[in-house]
Amino acid sequence: MLPRTIDWDGERIVLVDQTALPDVRLTSVTGVDGLVDAIGRLVVRGAPALGVAGALGVVLAVRTVGPAGLDAACARIAAARPTAANLAVGVARARAALPAGPDAVLAAALAVRDEDIAACHAIGARGAALLGELCGPGPLRLHTHCNAGALACVEWGTALGVVRSLHGLGRVAHVVADETRPLLQGARITAVELAAIGVPYRVVVDGAGASVIARGLVDAVVVGADRVAANGDVANKIGTYPLALAAARAGIPFLVAAPESTVDPATPDGAHIVIEERAADEVVHGHPAWNPAFDVTPHDLVTAVVTEARVWRPG
Ligand code: MRU
Repeated sequence: MLPRTIDWDGERIVLVDQTALPDVRLTSVTGVDGLVDAIGRLVVRGAPALGVAGALGVVLAVRTVGPAGLDAACARIAAARPTAANLAVGVARARAALPAGPDAVLAAALAVRDEDIAACHAIGARGAALLGELCGPGPLRLHTHCNAGALACVEWGTALGVVRSLHGLGRVAHVVADETRPLLQGARITAVELAAIGVPYRVVVDGAGASVIARGLVDAVVVGADRVAANGDVANKIGTYPLALAAARAGIPFLVAAPESTVDPATPDGAHIVIEERAADEVVHGHPAWNPAFDVTPHDLVTAVVTEARVWRPG
């Protein structure tokens, strides 16, 4: 059983250090500088977990930064990574409680945590039901990319929440998990989660993903999201878009599982989503590299976005 990915112990933010996975190590953060550093180094990662980190970061800011520095501290946390919508949403939720005092800020941050848990369970159940409608009763062969599991949220997960819900019904044959270059969230994190819950799985290199679909080895693709634009374009970990293309070509469903906090009505379409560029040395040493962390899947390739509130068919 994995510990909660992110939590509050009364004094500090407690995190599963995602850089150490597959070893499960807890670490804690007590100040804004430490949190901004942890977000940048992906000690905490995954859009829903970043939302909770943002909200709890405001709690740290209230405790450790004087009133004059509070706005700047909140802005730094919100900008620590640009693509996941949830980070700034989490900061804004906790910050809105500032006029009511520190206890209200903490209560708002803990509500972000608790709502994420509830949202993931609802997404899982809704996504499982939808896959039953689209693919039949199963057992289903599913394909996922990156990590959209418990370790990207507080617990349960979004795309892997769908897998968990289906698995609970005995309806998962196996999961294909892309390794997810360059930081291997699929091989290091998703694989660990699937092993922990007893779902049969295989890791494939990213370059194999589209041909796995073309060869008819999976029935549906289920991924998470970092930001969903108002028109349904989806930013997710780099390498997602080729899976959507292959799924469309093969005529199988491409589902996006994400909480409403990932849907950003202020971003009209994918062209307006800021794609994080990360350091070249994550890709290769001694050579120039281009390292975009996310790509955008156009809404016409998305069968449905499944949230805790709805099944949205943007295509
Ligand atoms: O760079 P990361 O690891 O923070 O990337 C986020 C992700 O884990 C994925 O893109 C995921 O599919 C969406 S978050 C559940």
